[in-house]
Amino acid sequence: MTIIHPNFGTLPDDRVIIFDTTLRDGEQSPGFSMNLQEKLRMAEALTELGVDVIEAGFPIASPGDFESVRLIAETIKGPVIAGLARSARGDIVRAGEAVAPAERKRIHTFISTSPLHMKFKLRMEPEAVLEAVTDSVTLARHYTDDVEWSAEDGSRTEPDFLCRCVEAAIKAGATTINIPDTVGYALPEDMFRIFKMLRDRVPGADKVIFSTHNHNDLGLAVANTIAAVSAGVRQIECTINGIGERAGNAALEEVVMAIRTRPDAVPCKPAIVTQNILKTSRLLSTITGFDVQPNKAIVGRNAFAHESGIHQDGVLKNAATYEIMTPESVGWARTSLVMGKHSGRAAFRDKLKALGYGEIGDNQLNDAFRRFKDLADRKKVVYDDDIMALVDDEARGDDRIRFVSLDVHAGSKVKPSAELELAVDGVVHSAKAEGDGPVDATFNALRAIFPHEGTLRLYSVGAVTEGTDAQARVTVRLEEGGKMVDGQGADTDTLVASARAYIHALNKLLVKRTRGEPPEQMAASA
Ligand code: KIV
Ligand code: ZN
Repeated sequence: MTIIHPNFGTLPDDRVIIFDTTLRDGEQSPGFSMNLQEKLRMAEALTELGVDVIEAGFPIASPGDFESVRLIAETIKGPVIAGLARSARGDIVRAGEAVAPAERKRIHTFISTSPLHMKFKLRMEPEAVLEAVTDSVTLARHYTDDVEWSAEDGSRTEPDFLCRCVEAAIKAGATTINIPDTVGYALPEDMFRIFKMLRDRVPGADKVIFSTHNHNDLGLAVANTIAAVSAGVRQIECTINGIGERAGNAALEEVVMAIRTRPDAVPCKPAIVTQNILKTSRLLSTITGFDVQPNKAIVGRNAFAHESGIHQDGVLKNAATYEIMTPESVGWARTSLVMGKHSGRAAFRDKLKALGYGEIGDNQLNDAFRRFKDLADRKKVVYDDDIMALVDDEARGDDRIRFVSLDVHAGSKVKPSAELELAVDGVVHSAKAEGDGPVDATFNALRAIFPHEGTLRLYSVGAVTEGTDAQARVTVRLEEGGKMVDGQGADTDTLVASARAYIHALNKLLVKRTRGEPPEQMAASA
């Protein structure tokens, strides 16, 4: 059955819409908050990646969230820009205002429908929830023809009631119906059964797009997504690197490549420029400071590395023996460039491209190149991981506080002291402080330059690569008023890495300070 959608027009049967929620579900998970400019950079990268819908945020959550959805709606051309809203009138009005400037806009409104959520979270009777479905979708339609309705905790909702809610949403004018597995509880056969039931039973089901939104608590988000597509779902909600609440959401890169690699089993076509996957993934890691694990499918550094001799031999004879997709198809470049102190800027830029850094600006490139030269002087071999660690440090260009220099005196015979220089809003400040150890002294100097309430909750040191000349990678966790942030820093000098990690965390805390807490996950009728 061909569907005519207000923003996508006539949708061919095999077209699947990619709805990216990195900036909403992904961004609301602990440690992943982004500032306004970072969100805009991500939205631009998602546009280049070819996603169909960008869920830009939850406008009622805070003035910062509203502003970022609004800025993305004003700036980004191409994808539909969606704003999330509970069923409450205030949420929908705010979402409508935030997405108003978009070339193509959507309001995504939701309410819980499972017995557990209705009783304990909403404290609403099912009939009142049904009324809220109708009222919220009707109100949202005043702002746009493209309205998505979601049944929160849909996978644990009683089937007859789910059918009634979906029918009410369709009657009120919803054009997309999303059934989330909010708590990551479902198995693939559950998702298949739910969507088949809705498509078979609900009047008007053939006029709307069904959408799937799966959390990864049991590691099944991608499998559940594919099962839903097999049951006729034509919109997939997902995030870059699978970030999101708790264990995260279905990873965009995994879902898209599963579909692309197995057209025999999943005959539909996402309009994703797969060659841009790696650089989008790296951009997100750079912005948030969280790398993906080495064995992460598609974008992990080992995803295409063949270690065993038998596999290497097979790949050399015919790559298809052990590769089900080519590394190039997702943005990895094969490179034999070995970087050292004689490498020039052009080779460095090529290396960055090969490592998936498409977006680095000239100033950041220059700073990263200077640090690379410095590293190459101190280290015999500069590995790809070393370069990635320092570029990630440098690419955080919009931070208010930047590291300038550090001079530490420590040892068994002296009281440890640190002299630190930082640029705060572009102005260089310095301070000298003592401490119980060199790290403590460094952090005391930092607090002297930029006093703050944040408490150090975690300090951990690891090595980026092997050997005594390896760079240290330090993680610092700060807490302020119940808000928790992690920062990362890398350097061959562990103390410089520590200062950088602390500064990174502090910058994230400053972003968090400007934002309110997300509102309680309760809903009122519109
Ligand atoms: O997981 C969930 O239920 C959600 C909804 C708001 C769509 O994120
Ligand atoms: Zn979710």
